Amino acid sequence: MSRIMSGIQPTGSLHIGNYLGALLNWVRLQEEYECYFSIVDLHALTARPEPQELRLAVRELAIGVLASGVDPERAVLFVQSQVPEHSELAWVFSCMTQMGDLNRMTQFKDKSQFQADNINAGLFTYPVLQAADILIYRADRVPVGEDQVQHLELAREIVRRFNGIYGQTFPEPIVVPAKAPRVMGLDGESKMSKSRGNEIGLFEEPEETMKKLRGAKTDPQRLRRNDPGRPEICNVFSYHGYFSDAATCEQIAADCRSASIGCVDCKQSLAGNLEKVKGPIRERAQELRANQGAIDEILNEGGNRARAVAKETMDLVRERVGL
Ligand code: TYM
Repeated sequence: MSRIMSGIQPTGSLHIGNYLGALLNWVRLQEEYECYFSIVDLHALTARPEPQELRLAVRELAIGVLASGVDPERAVLFVQSQVPEHSELAWVFSCMTQMGDLNRMTQFKDKSQFQADNINAGLFTYPVLQAADILIYRADRVPVGEDQVQHLELAREIVRRFNGIYGQTFPEPIVVPAKAPRVMGLDGESKMSKSRGNEIGLFEEPEETMKKLRGAKTDPQRLRRNDPGRPEICNVFSYHGYFSDAATCEQIAADCRSASIGCVDCKQSLAGNLEKVKGPIRERAQELRANQGAIDEILNEGGNRARAVAKETMDLVRERVGL
């Protein structure tokens, strides 16, 4: 049976890109497969967060993941740094990863631009740790958004190299694609991400979302209310595709083309449908926040379960490589 592994960084709060690109798949896959979902705090260190803030972010992310529907009875939810074998395997993997391959990683280039004053070695070897996250569980499927596909290709390359040198040890993990692998940001220019400040937060109150939507770019040719619009190129309309049913999408598209509705009407309808998804998640998160002890227990239990599997893999790796 396939094993699933995926991770998410505790940097900033969850947005609908994370939800559509990853979490929805996590919730679906936990019904069928053995799943390991990790809050990757070691990865977050590459951006040098304040210690106290990092700890809070880990907890808040756990709450967000649980509120989105990940069930700790079905999936193993844990904090990466509680399983030291991730770092150990990452070292072994880094000894079989070529600098040239790491140099090609587009996320490294992007992130280096964002934090030009702190281009640390962790940022460079980040995908090696990511490969270890997956393979310490010998997982063969990884539900992630499109921005992680290149990292997965590198993980496959590492596996091929390892297996080639030491004998068949790891499966080659493949991506489980999301229905929305690349959700665009409110600017309509780049993917939704917290660092660009173009996100719709999963926990946002409806008023805040509507305020952001008001400023969101639509069809640039639709300057006046009476101009006919082109939903097929409108970023806001693309969100309807994720949150509104087929009939609503069709109606909005037709009314936009004929200019019988304006962009504000379209955005209001979207905000309502978004809230149908966000509202219940926000409420569940609020309930979870009231019981921090239970969150700690879930994470500790997840850490114990993850460590048991990680140790098995690491024992095998030590034997194979001669440690
Ligand atoms: P992170 O924390 O940036 O994002 C978490 C997940 O959300 C997806 N995602 C998106 N999907 C669609 N549209 C978007 N705009 C969007 N923004 C984010 C990401 O693709 C990801 O699936 N390196 C990873 C974390 C990681 C990991 C792993 C993932 C560490 N180890 C092992 C899988 C397996 C990251 O930074 O994701």
